[in-house]
Amino acid sequence: MYKFKIKGKARKLKGTISASGSKNAGLPIMAATLLAAGNYTINNVPDIIDIRTMAELLSILGSKVEFKNHELKIHTDSCTCYEAPYDLVKRMRASIYVLGPLVARYGKARVSFPGGCALGARPINLHLEGLQKLGTNIEIEHGYINADTKKLHSNEIIFEQRSVGATANILMASVLADGTTIIRNAACEPEINALAVFLIQMGAKIEGIGTDCLTVNGIQTLHSANVSLIPDRIETGTLLLAAAITKGEITVKNCCPSDLSMVLEKLREIGFSVNVNNDSITISGKGKNPIEISTNPYPAFPTDLQAPFASLLSTIKGKSIIDENIFSDRFMYISELQRLGADIKLDKNRIVIHGGNQLTGAPLMASDIRAAAALVIAALASEGETEISRIYHLDRGYERLENKLAQLGADIERIEDN
Ligand code: EPU
Repeated sequence: MYKFKIKGKARKLKGTISASGSKNAGLPIMAATLLAAGNYTINNVPDIIDIRTMAELLSILGSKVEFKNHELKIHTDSCTCYEAPYDLVKRMRASIYVLGPLVARYGKARVSFPGGCALGARPINLHLEGLQKLGTNIEIEHGYINADTKKLHSNEIIFEQRSVGATANILMASVLADGTTIIRNAACEPEINALAVFLIQMGAKIEGIGTDCLTVNGIQTLHSANVSLIPDRIETGTLLLAAAITKGEITVKNCCPSDLSMVLEKLREIGFSVNVNNDSITISGKGKNPIEISTNPYPAFPTDLQAPFASLLSTIKGKSIIDENIFSDRFMYISELQRLGADIKLDKNRIVIHGGNQLTGAPLMASDIRAAAALVIAALASEGETEISRIYHLDRGYERLENKLAQLGADIERIEDN
């Protein structure tokens, strides 16, 4: 096990850094390779734990997977197993992404039922109801979802709530269903668009990409495809926030500025200067204005940057407010920020931050991927030394974040945690 040792305060981040490929685009795209026998190459893949967990799951299901130099090669000629075991699903909920593809291609799947997680209750009713509407029988037994169908058929699916995961699962299943499926109130996150584009490369017929209504004309079989993953907008945002909290000046290249429009708007509102080019973002200047943020589905403010923004706002004088509207309990990091001296009060799904206190280093513990990122950002502005344990959470979603930050001038080390 490892922890980070960070010496903060004195150093302003400076320089240019590249964004990695997107975790949340990579995971469903990897699962989509189960839809058809063939050879797939996926490039720009971040070398992070969640991608390796999905690779392990695909191997268990019978795929051959090689992962080298950010390139994944996946061969999916035959599936020898239809089960996503508890051990993998409990490590990564996105394992549920294999459910739709397995049912669509083989007519059966057995996937461990995901339990709660550090973000609160995370039901999967929309995934299951959607699959049932496409003609899948579903039973829950001994902690597993047993799903089977003779042949999926089309339907109109109206999600009562926007869900990235349910949209991805139903989209993957419906491409092989008989007839025309309409998915309403679909998620339109860039990662869903990336999945849809990949499915089209595999031969799928999908219209409405980028909107909340997807129309899928099911076909009999799909074929192999290759893809390069879109940049990770959440990693990009995290790097920008790390620079902002140190009052530094950095450029993140190989990123997609338009995927971060609302986030960049909020940084400008705080007072930072943010300039964008085709595929790069430069941030500089100082923040001085407290702000209000509400997380909501894309293109609104992303929940995945809620915690990292709370760190930044803790250092901005005045009263900021954040409403978390996606997850029921995504505030576990607050008590850790309080240990650094941040003044944050929680009231149901709202936090009120009275920013401007000088943060001071302390031992901290990470509780999920983005909470870990928030603690790293806060540590960069804290006087003295901060140690952050349980950074395996961070490693699930960020490829060697400490190397990127060190390249920009941060004093950060990964050390053994005994
Ligand atoms: N929901 C239901 N029923 C369902 C599915 C979702 O009630 O069947 C609820 C959830 O409980 C939540 C809301 O709908 O309140 C939205 O959840 P969504 O399904 O959109 O989230 P997800 O697919 O489980 C993905 C990302 C998360 C990101 C959210 C929201 C992946 C692998 N995960 O999760 O990313 O926060 O969308 O944008 O793409 C992360 O990367 O750290 C992360 C948690």
